[in-house]
Amino acid sequence: MDVALSILTVDYSDVRKSLENVIDSVDYIHLDVMDGEFVPNISFGYSFIKSLRKITDKPFDTHLMMVHPNKYIKEFVEAGSDYITFHIEADCDAKETIDLIHSFNVKAGISIKPNTKVDEIKDLLPCLDMVLVMSVEPGFGGQKFMPIAIDKVKELSELKKKYNYNYLINIDGGIKDTTAVYIKDYVDLAVSGSYILNSDTPKENALKLKNL
Ligand code: DX5
Ligand code: ZN
Repeated sequence: MDVALSILTVDYSDVRKSLENVIDSVDYIHLDVMDGEFVPNISFGYSFIKSLRKITDKPFDTHLMMVHPNKYIKEFVEAGSDYITFHIEADCDAKETIDLIHSFNVKAGISIKPNTKVDEIKDLLPCLDMVLVMSVEPGFGGQKFMPIAIDKVKELSELKKKYNYNYLINIDGGIKDTTAVYIKDYVDLAVSGSYILNSDTPKENALKLKNL
């Protein structure tokens, strides 16, 4: 299982230093963009992502928790995103937004909140590069893993095999060694934030997840 490091809880005063010891042990950098409306929190935007691009070549997995994700796709592309994922619960035409992301030669993903069923994105699966299953209510790092996500990644994995779909299966929220064991056989990658960054052994924790 690949690991996408969520930097939401990083020390923003010295991001470079906070990441230097761990960045080589993860596969993606997961970037949580929050607009204060789709979720009750504000994080950072494309300018921050653009700066971050200067310190690493790792693929950027940008997760837009925004009511109107389609408004700034170009900016998130130019900032260096490799994957751009938006929410099916957002206020936009999902197919149009996927096409817009693809028009910049960037991979497109859709995320579903804990109460949204896989069924609601079934028609979109053939054209997606990533499906991001939320295992917490989006908005904050450090929350408890919600087991409702387990059946969803399993279902996505079965659909992927059955129809030969291309999307990567990703899961986000409360991922650590003890929760990842439930999902590791069904996902391609998993997002982990506080378990890695807010520990005294970030590198070891990242490798523990990778080698489960
Ligand atoms: C929640 C974010 C997550 C979060 C993960 O809205 O989408 O990416 O930062 O952090 P942990 O691993 O602490 O749950
Ligand atoms: Zn996220």
